[in-house]
Amino acid sequence: MTRPRAGVTALGAYAPPKVVTNHDLEKIMDTSDEWITTRTGIRRRHVAADDEFTSDLAFRAVEDLLRRHGPDALAGVDLVLVATNTPDALFPSTAALVQAKFGLKAAAFDLLAACPGWLYALSVAQAYVLSGQAQRVLAIGAEALTKVVDWQDRSTAVLFGDGAGAVIVEAVPEGFGFRSIVIGADGSGAGHLHMRSIGRCLPDGSVLGDKLYMNGREVFKFAVRVMNTSTIEAVEKADLRPDDISLFVPHQANLRIIEAARERLGLAADRVVVTVDEYGNNSTASIPLALAHALDAGRVAPGDHLLLVSFGAGLTWASAVLTWGPWATAAP
Ligand code: ACO
Repeated sequence: MTRPRAGVTALGAYAPPKVVTNHDLEKIMDTSDEWITTRTGIRRRHVAADDEFTSDLAFRAVEDLLRRHGPDALAGVDLVLVATNTPDALFPSTAALVQAKFGLKAAAFDLLAACPGWLYALSVAQAYVLSGQAQRVLAIGAEALTKVVDWQDRSTAVLFGDGAGAVIVEAVPEGFGFRSIVIGADGSGAGHLHMRSIGRCLPDGSVLGDKLYMNGREVFKFAVRVMNTSTIEAVEKADLRPDDISLFVPHQANLRIIEAARERLGLAADRVVVTVDEYGNNSTASIPLALAHALDAGRVAPGDHLLLVSFGAGLTWASAVLTWGPWATAAP
């Protein structure tokens, strides 16, 4: 007997219209388009307006999902998950704000696992659906990171952007859905990437500040290693070989990290989705936004095996193999 599967049946995404280019940054800090492009592949990032916060971006992504899939697309949603590192408030959760905004009869909570948070949310959604605790889960990744980067620190300020993505996860017919999801954490690397909430320092003595701190070199090394190990694990658990992967949709943090992972998997360049040039790193929003781009470009067909992977603060990682169904399509 084949096991039932959960899968993604609808998708929406949003990036704020305000764009800041590398040349714009050259005017406000000691950096250059050449440095940013060669080290990261980033050319532009989308930045939320002064009065636009994570909940606003999440609302827009859900509105895009409704636009793509029709006004009944949220019918029966009984759980809302928002993965974010930049919630409007510590409480109420951003998920509760989404629940109220769309008048859903649903439980709601936020999930914090840094950049892989949205993949973590998919694993939670899958578990709720397969255990019968939820029928339809609205799983969102939304981020207003440009509000927490240190604009005096050129080594981090150039890297991040804002955005949101939203999907519906529910039971799907045989042959589609999640073939595997892998999640992991190693908190011994907590000191490499952090930001204060109410604490003063981490167990290793790292002093927490009010803005995002990152040891870029250490995170780079970790990212290259874990993008390799966790994708291999997800592909093996899915009972596939790397060659079976139709499209690789990695976290969009740095083009060099993406390229290293693609090469290790032995995938051709036309089988990877790259949007880091346009958006920079918008953390939990990066994979759903990249997926929306791939769909709109006609690069995803029913039956395709998609390989998703992310890494971030914690340190954390996650990867998944998702067989795409005929439901989620390009924007009208
Ligand atoms: N413009 C110009 N020069 C710069 C800039 C900048 N924006 N930033 C740093 N430099 C300088 C440094 O001061 C340094 O100068 P020095 O040699 O005179 O000391 C030089 O450039 C090299 O700096 P490095 O930090 O060694 O540069 P590196 O090649 O490692 O690239 C980068 C830095 C892009 C941050 C890289 O380490 C990286 O991408 N790391 C991974 C980051 C990441 O993916 N994070 C994702 C997780 S985010 C999350 O979970 C919230």
